[in-house]
Amino acid sequence: MSERKADARVLPVIVDRWSPRAFDGVAVPAEDLAVIFEAAGLAPSAFNVQPWRFLYAVPGDANWDAFVDILVPFNQGWAKDAGALVFILSQETSTGPDGKTGPLYSHSFDAGSAWALLAIQATSMGYHTHGMTGIDFDKARTVLGVPEGFRIEAATVIGRQTTPEKLPDFLREREAPSGRKPVGEFAVAGTFANLPA
Ligand SMILES: Cc1cc2nc3c(=O)[nH]c(=O)nc-3n(C[C@H](O)[C@H](O)[C@H](O)COP(=O)(O)O)c2cc1C
Repeated sequence: MSERKADARVLPVIVDRWSPRAFDGVAVPAEDLAVIFEAAGLAPSAFNVQPWRFLYAVPGDANWDAFVDILVPFNQGWAKDAGALVFILSQETSTGPDGKTGPLYSHSFDAGSAWALLAIQATSMGYHTHGMTGIDFDKARTVLGVPEGFRIEAATVIGRQTTPEKLPDFLREREAPSGRKPVGEFAVAGTFANLPA
């Protein structure tokens, strides 16, 4: 049950998505990951380029330890117990119908849309996600073998939430859905001048 308050017409799966750090360490089954990535791939993107890429590992597989080691130590401390660790990339260029390759303005925006759908789909299947940019990005590029032309955007874990006992005190206290700004602080009719300072 979410402690968040939202208009009753906001989809419950959106209200219920939040980012815990206590996970049960059980690998997300491949068939569930496939569904979650399929949902992510249904995101809209400019020219339908679909510039997102996902590189993942699950506990016990050949890449798990190396993937966790890419995270900053703080994130390693809790993300090591997740059920999957996913690095989210975007392709910075696209090739048009004329065969010309150029910068793709919206590559990060599009990858962000895909990540949001990933999180919502995972939530609907009883999982939690937790996005991270606390990453050693140089190490990520090397370990993941990411070529030039692709931006490493962020990482996320996916997993089943568990009781927070194993978390250190300062994290246990934060293990709850967080609040949000009132809509009027970030969405206004009209120009930028109408936004509150
Ligand atoms: C792009 C991105 C980067 C984040 N980086 C980290 C991180 O490195 N470590 C961490 O513990 N949480 C990280 N978070 C989690 C946010 O702090 C969290 O999503 C935010 O406080 C809102 O809480 P909620 O997701 O529970 O609604 C990140 C989230 C996003 C979307």
